[in-house]
Amino acid sequence: MRDFENRGGTMYIGGASAVDIANEFGTPVYVIDEARVRENYRNVYNAFSRFMDTRIHYACKANTNLALLRILEQEGSGIDAVSIGEVRTCLRAGFTPDRIMYTGVNVSDRELREVAELGVMINLDSGSEMERLARIAPGHPVSFRITPGVGSGHSDKVITGSKGSKFGIPLDRVVETYARARDLGFDIRGIHAHIGSGGQTVEPFMDMMEVLIDLVNRIRDIGIELEFIDMGGGIGVPYRPQEQEMEVEELAMNLTDMIMEETDIRTIVLEPGRYIVCDAVVLLTGVNDVKDAGTKRYVGCDAGFNTLIRPAMYDSYHHVALANKFGKACTAKYDVVGPICESGDYLAHDRVLPDPEEGDIVAVYNAGAYGFSMSSNYNSRPLCREVLVNEGKAELVREAEEIEELWRHQIIPERLA
Ligand code: LLP
Repeated sequence: MRDFENRGGTMYIGGASAVDIANEFGTPVYVIDEARVRENYRNVYNAFSRFMDTRIHYACKANTNLALLRILEQEGSGIDAVSIGEVRTCLRAGFTPDRIMYTGVNVSDRELREVAELGVMINLDSGSEMERLARIAPGHPVSFRITPGVGSGHSDKVITGSKGSKFGIPLDRVVETYARARDLGFDIRGIHAHIGSGGQTVEPFMDMMEVLIDLVNRIRDIGIELEFIDMGGGIGVPYRPQEQEMEVEELAMNLTDMIMEETDIRTIVLEPGRYIVCDAVVLLTGVNDVKDAGTKRYVGCDAGFNTLIRPAMYDSYHHVALANKFGKACTAKYDVVGPICESGDYLAHDRVLPDPEEGDIVAVYNAGAYGFSMSSNYNSRPLCREVLVNEGKAELVREAEEIEELWRHQIIPERLA
């Protein structure tokens, strides 16, 4: 797991003091380390591009902050978008339509039309979607998401590639679907699979690639040459202190080797989300309350599952530390919990912390992927701020929501006024 610089008992993120950031901007606040985002992008790009023409399509569902998207646009990334909202957000951030790929599931005709009109390539998820797109945008550039029959992920809730999954074209229908797409006159570009998110081993990717390669060759046998293989996202990152990173170089070498040896395809597409942003963001949350409940001790913070839902939703482990007592000797075990009125509202269970007190700052690690993007207004709590750190300087990149904004789209009928 990535750790942070310690200057005299204070945590530093990207050269800036976490305590100063919390004091200046208030808590809760997500802090994005620009240098780390760039480094992660370059790591994964360089690992693959040594071997093959490589296109990284950042899976922006992980984090759609506009400043963060600008950074990735500058790095040369493309985008994997799942909704018209994500497509338009990325256009707003400066990506051109040719750098965006749309992979929706169970999408409406209206959304298909909007995406096609914007000139964004569509990765089709079903025969139904293909037939509907043929009427809406004949000849559009497409690829197909297939169900590889291989799944991997940190939780059952995020495994997508197993047989019988709601995602993709079932294996026994793939070749006939490509034939049908050709008959319909589509501009067929590639093939795609995504096994799931947050798996920590290389093997499932290899198993998926074997399935894709077999399909590529069977599709070539019916006269359709594909330009790229898209291996989806899913590269895991370490969340626990002792955990090691997945060997991205090994993954890249093995997968590109298979493609080069067994197919005519010379372009690989990847859709990493978590790998690029996860460890580049820390959530800082203030301690409001410390309670000894007899059987348990609680550190009560101003961020709960409204701000970071991953622990409550997936039982995900996020490392926590006190940013203002960084590296200090730990005294006892605590549950780190939030302000939401449910017993399932927690950030961390049974963690040893150095004598937490009201006013301390808890740093929640690995908050960049699916942190802010899954946050909500539950309990009528406004969404929090985001700050970008670069070379020791912190800038606000998202203002906190105002309570008034929670009412903005609501209507009280005249008769109730
Ligand atoms: N491509 C496709 C088609 C996907 O469905 C996903 C993630 C990705 C790429 C990016 O996967 P990544 O590299 O980030 O693992 N909310 C969950 C994760 C859901 C992932 C959904 N799909 C979490 O907090 O763990």
